[in-house]
Amino acid sequence: MRLVFVGPPGAGKGTQAKVITEKWKIPQISTGDMLREAKANGTLPQDLIEKMKAGGLVPDEVVIDLIRARTEKDDAKGGFLLDGFPRTVPQAEALTKLLDSRGQKLDIVVALDVPKELLMERACLRRTDKRTGQIYHLKYKPPPPDAILEHRADDHEDVVRNRVDVYEKMTADLLPFYEKAGLLKRIDGVGDVEAVTQRVVRALEQVRG
Ligand code: AP5
Repeated sequence: MRLVFVGPPGAGKGTQAKVITEKWKIPQISTGDMLREAKANGTLPQDLIEKMKAGGLVPDEVVIDLIRARTEKDDAKGGFLLDGFPRTVPQAEALTKLLDSRGQKLDIVVALDVPKELLMERACLRRTDKRTGQIYHLKYKPPPPDAILEHRADDHEDVVRNRVDVYEKMTADLLPFYEKAGLLKRIDGVGDVEAVTQRVVRALEQVRG
């Protein structure tokens, strides 16, 4: 199974990706996580750090190179879930080309639909446990008392608002691109985590037949 999760900031891509990749035993490949890891290792150039901090997208070539290298690894040979990539049509075209060159193709693109007001609340109150990488939410999924919590630099209200605007602008053509390719499945991302998971699983099972 090779699939993509598309959705605005805070839609629940990472949360759902964790459950699905455990169930299907495929790696979760998140360009956001890879970029944050590069920042933590001191290998992300300063201009890209600033871009992410302000809620903008990093250049297509940067994330395409990350995806090319990561999907070549052994654990991705049997499939993968791309979380937050592609975000633009040039990224989607590069992905198609890359998969074609390997005789592979995508099975499905899942778009999580969540209204703007809820996105703000989901992203601004998100916290991650530094040690385990587990995602929590101060209202919907409170962390345990011993968690070492991190608040992402781009999860402050003004930046989240900008990220949502950037998402709407940059991905406006992406969903029609995948719709035309017959790969797009829109899923209602409102409701508790388990309810959304059930909708996603149903869509994936239909594809697998
Ligand atoms: P990235 O890390 O990909 O961020 P994002 O797409 O903005 O998505 P988020 O991680 O904010 O949200 P999510 O949908 O994963 O939500 P989550 O599951 O955590 O990208 C960060 C930056 O990197 C970008 O701004 C850009 O600069 C750069 N970048 C990355 N990829 C790029 C690319 N391809 N091209 C160019 N630049 C790129 O959930 C959010 C919260 O809600 C959590 O607290 C969770 O517990 C809670 N929650 C989730 N689901 C539910 C539910 N059903 N009910 C209640 N609470 C819920």
